[in-house]
Amino acid sequence: MSHEWNAAEYHRVSAPQVGWGQKVLSRLELAGHEQTIDAGCGTGRLTGELVARLPKGSLIAVDRSWNMLLTARANLRPSFGSRISFVQAALPYLPFERWADLVFSTATFHWVPDHTALFAGIFAALRPRGRLFAQCGGGPNLSRAHRLAEEVMASEPFEPFFRGWQGIWTFAYPDETVDRLHRAGFVEVDVDLEPAMTTLSDETSYREFVTTVIYHTHLARLPEGELRTRWLDKIVALAAAQDPAFTLDYWRLNLSGTRP
Ligand SMILES: C[S@@+](CC[C@H](N)C(=O)[O-])C[C@H]1O[C@@H](n2cnc3c(N)ncnc32)[C@H](O)[C@@H]1O
Repeated sequence: MSHEWNAAEYHRVSAPQVGWGQKVLSRLELAGHEQTIDAGCGTGRLTGELVARLPKGSLIAVDRSWNMLLTARANLRPSFGSRISFVQAALPYLPFERWADLVFSTATFHWVPDHTALFAGIFAALRPRGRLFAQCGGGPNLSRAHRLAEEVMASEPFEPFFRGWQGIWTFAYPDETVDRLHRAGFVEVDVDLEPAMTTLSDETSYREFVTTVIYHTHLARLPEGELRTRWLDKIVALAAAQDPAFTLDYWRLNLSGTRP
């Protein structure tokens, strides 16, 4: 399975993710000298806002996708020079030990199936008194959107391409996340779930958004070309008929903790 993203398109359509991430950043208290990791930096829009608040610090932007990292580097290097560096790594593997004062992450952890290993890796990357401050999809995130996809996946001629496929996201709930963070060794753990219902303005915006952000792993299972177009046509028609139309039932899991 390819782990690549269409970085240019994500940069263009990701206003909802940027808005949620900015809210997370506004709650984050910083001294300005922290050594920081952004785990799943994407095209670097939030990474840039974060490193701008670290005038005496430094940031390592980590992502599994080469397209995303190259775009982030092109966007951020000119402004931040050697205060920022870029590392390709696939979480839960995080190739740092006792280096970071802060691990920040938005809209990424639900792509990592094993949260026990994820939190253990982050804990190991933190220095004592280092913090994890993150948000990802959680709880009933996108259950309506995924039911809609399941309906299309079960129909002909698409069913054979999805047979046995479970999807790849982990949308964890607060209680189990608190438990996992404690078991990884974190203290001062705080986790909550918030709704983030998102309505796209029209059919074109909805189609562009879901193509790049929500259903790109579904689409990658189909051969390029006509079948992908037909699959999306069906999704868009179903989303248009829902009330409210073109609306994505996002839920965000906020999580933080400290390495003692
Ligand atoms: C929805 S984007 C979020 C990007 C950015 N943090 C934001 O909030 O806009 C998810 C990012 O997580 C990255 N990602 C997904 N799974 C990953 C993994 N296992 N390890 C590292 N990065 C991963 C993707 O490549 C993508 O750049």
